[in-house]
Amino acid sequence: MSRPAPAVVTVTGAAGSIGYASVFRIAAGAMLGHDQPIALRLLELPQAVPAAVGTAMELDDGAFGLLKSVDVFDDPRKAFDGASFALLIGARPRSKGMERADLLAANSDIFAAQGAVLNEVAADDIRVIVVGNPANTNAAVAAAHAPEIPPQRFSALTRLDHNRAIAQLSHRAGVEVGEISRVTIWGNHSATQYPDIFHARVGGRSGADLAADREWLVDDFIPTVARRGTAIIEARGSSSAASAANATIDHVHDWVLGTPAGDWTSTALPSPGAYGIPEGIVCSFPVRSIDGEWEIVEGLDINDFSRERIDASVAELEAERDAALTS
Ligand code: NAD
Ligand code: LMR
Repeated sequence: MSRPAPAVVTVTGAAGSIGYASVFRIAAGAMLGHDQPIALRLLELPQAVPAAVGTAMELDDGAFGLLKSVDVFDDPRKAFDGASFALLIGARPRSKGMERADLLAANSDIFAAQGAVLNEVAADDIRVIVVGNPANTNAAVAAAHAPEIPPQRFSALTRLDHNRAIAQLSHRAGVEVGEISRVTIWGNHSATQYPDIFHARVGGRSGADLAADREWLVDDFIPTVARRGTAIIEARGSSSAASAANATIDHVHDWVLGTPAGDWTSTALPSPGAYGIPEGIVCSFPVRSIDGEWEIVEGLDINDFSRERIDASVAELEAERDAALTS
């Protein structure tokens, strides 16, 4: 059986921790499936090009059947030319003691420039996933600089938070992760995010049943998920890498190949105004992927407890967006 043409996948920050943890699994077919050949483009800053060349050598040594080419660039125009997938990972990470807001100024220029270049040279079917923090606002900045690309082709990673919430629920309820569905991360990939379990299914139980223990929900579950990135930085001395790479691959996999029947996932998308969340910010929603397009799960009942938390994260996103787009 003949295989499709290679998909052009550009990974920025490819020599960094998340980039390094991503590219081998992409080459092995974990992201786009085991029948989809890949043409990998690695984009790095000039000083990190030698390390990216080393990564390309290791990819070669993996003898991956799906990997048709690996090219290293320090020029975004060449790296994104004809790309169908742009994994925007390259950015400065948060170190100990830094809050995510501190990254805003440092990183938003990168995403403005990359959005403008994607607008000019990417393939018509480009899909963009922003991982570099502050991911939601960087995605909003990139989309704002790419007027020819439909806004819903821009997304930011909250799948890591989604996966973290499932893991915490699994520990709490003593249920396998595969038996947990319909968890939602709302809002920003930050400490204000709201992991919502009111609609979740946890084995034979409803999430609402677990949420009835408000002390656990408010003092344990929500802060554990929302501050997990900080806890990892404190434990490792650097920010999450393999779990972030894993979530990035999950995100693109489900975007292209579909979310499992009966379930949904969480993705930050330019808000179309759903659930009263204003347009102009990139906010995490419950989403399904249908025929390769994200669709927000509509019609969920949002109780007062959830509304208050969603609104707080949305307010943070609006402030970040205002700071980034006026700087
Ligand atoms: P890292 O410092 O290990 O690697 C970043 C790489 O990006 C470096 O190699 C650097 O040279 C490169 N880079 C910087 N600017 C670039 C540019 N303009 N073009 C191309 N490459 C560029 O960092 P990391 O641990 O891989 O983290 C990357 C980003 O992902 C950080 O912003 C981090 O905060 C973020 N992150 C996001 C999530 C999430 O869930 N959204 C989770 C973890 C980390
Ligand atoms: C994470 O969630 O692990 C990352 O976004 C790191 C951070 O800065 O919180």
